[in-house]
Amino acid sequence: IQKNEDFRPNFHFTPKKNWMNDPNGMFYLDGTYHLYFQYYPEDNVWGPMHWGHATSKDMITWEEQPIALFPDEKGYIFSGSAVVDEKNTSGFGEEGKTPVVAIFTYHEPKAAEEGKKDYQSQAIAYSLDEGQTWTKYEGNPVIPNPGIENFRDPKVIWDDINKQWLMALATTEKALFYTSQNLKDWKKLSEFGEKTGAHDGVWECPDIFPMQVEGSDEQKWVLIQSLNPGGYNGGSGTQYFVGDFDGKKFVPAKGMEALEEKHPFWIDFGRDNYAGVTWSNIPDEDGRKLFLGWMSNWLYAQEVPTTTWRSAMTISRELKLIKEDGNYLLTSEPVEELKKYRGKKLQKKDIKVSGNKVVLNADDIDLARAEIRFSINDLKETTYNFRLSNDMGEEFIISYDHAQKEFIMNRSHAGKNDFSEKFGTENSTAPRISNSNSMNAILIIDKTSIEMFFDDGKTVITEIFFPSQPWNEFCFTAGLEDFTVDSLEAYELEFPKT
Ligand code: FRU
Repeated sequence: IQKNEDFRPNFHFTPKKNWMNDPNGMFYLDGTYHLYFQYYPEDNVWGPMHWGHATSKDMITWEEQPIALFPDEKGYIFSGSAVVDEKNTSGFGEEGKTPVVAIFTYHEPKAAEEGKKDYQSQAIAYSLDEGQTWTKYEGNPVIPNPGIENFRDPKVIWDDINKQWLMALATTEKALFYTSQNLKDWKKLSEFGEKTGAHDGVWECPDIFPMQVEGSDEQKWVLIQSLNPGGYNGGSGTQYFVGDFDGKKFVPAKGMEALEEKHPFWIDFGRDNYAGVTWSNIPDEDGRKLFLGWMSNWLYAQEVPTTTWRSAMTISRELKLIKEDGNYLLTSEPVEELKKYRGKKLQKKDIKVSGNKVVLNADDIDLARAEIRFSINDLKETTYNFRLSNDMGEEFIISYDHAQKEFIMNRSHAGKNDFSEKFGTENSTAPRISNSNSMNAILIIDKTSIEMFFDDGKTVITEIFFPSQPWNEFCFTAGLEDFTVDSLEAYELEFPKT
């Protein structure tokens, strides 16, 4: 029976010990990807927040580093971002050392408890040793609280189009934009969001950046906006908006000005991808937009059946912006780097499915560290089921109903779920975004998670589970009509590898 340490993923980042939530301060410098994270080193539930730290050469294999930022008399260190201040605009640089500047939220727990509204403000810290150790700025906060509750999660980018540092900040029902030339003095530019998108919760962890539309010269701006609760399947979720930004104001694209609660623009429809943002300082030669999220949900994150540590991050993903039928869509797929971990391979073609068809088992590849790709041409108006199961009769089922164009994820019998009523009782759903008559899928499976990328990453679904034994079968099951899986390609992923 698997428990605690057995649930620790093979290749998703987890802290060695205790509690983690949001990714923070992600930047790349000199061959190293840095990931900081909301961390409480003393317990396996949320508490006084620190920034934990991990580094990687490829965004797959992580090495945990000493804690980067500790709470102090000004408060807990909440979520935020980091930028490499190449031109030393902040003046923090010394002896030719480039400063890395972290921008985070101070959260004053006492003021919050006393019912005051002004318990969150924005602050900065800098590092002169590439993110290893940090000095907090003596002039903090750089943006004092203006009297509003929920005022947090600054994401700063160098806006090269308008030659400014640009900050997106979240408050209850909107994103706020600020500008600066030196990362210390900030001026408010504008607000966005009250009239569009999901609002059944508090807006948190925004991100804003320009992106080129694939296959064109068109440039658009993307605003990523998490909210909790009020996600697509309840609880935590991350929506996005595409539009224009003139250096001051974000204007949503046609069709995105007044989206309803249940709109289709989510970076991930699953229950377990939250507070994700993009890496900063990715070199122009690379040019990718790289994203990672927290693979859990505030509905049950503090109760999941691990004890020595809690929560993992998603796999790192590459975002792309495409235009289809007049809509701008953000797609995501696992980063290329994952491919170098491919080991044993299995390939099948033309798989006829009638009833239950086991296509992979543990003798083929270890389903606790697997990449499965498949495609189905000529979709019929029937239900396609994809299923992971084990000898305990536990199963995680993904159904795709082509008549409704909807995915349904059932984890009600996927192992341990008695830790929270909110975990397994209901199915989650996701719309199929693509209109194509054929479907392709990439499934990334680790011990306690599955990340599904359908139709070149147009519909993405991330879910976690806690089977009491490892999955040892993957099968397709036909609904009313038989079907054919045109090709299947599966890899065992090997870790560690350098
Ligand atoms: C999102 C969040 C952020 C906040 C942090 C606190 O999960 O609530 O808004 O900064 O977590 O840990």
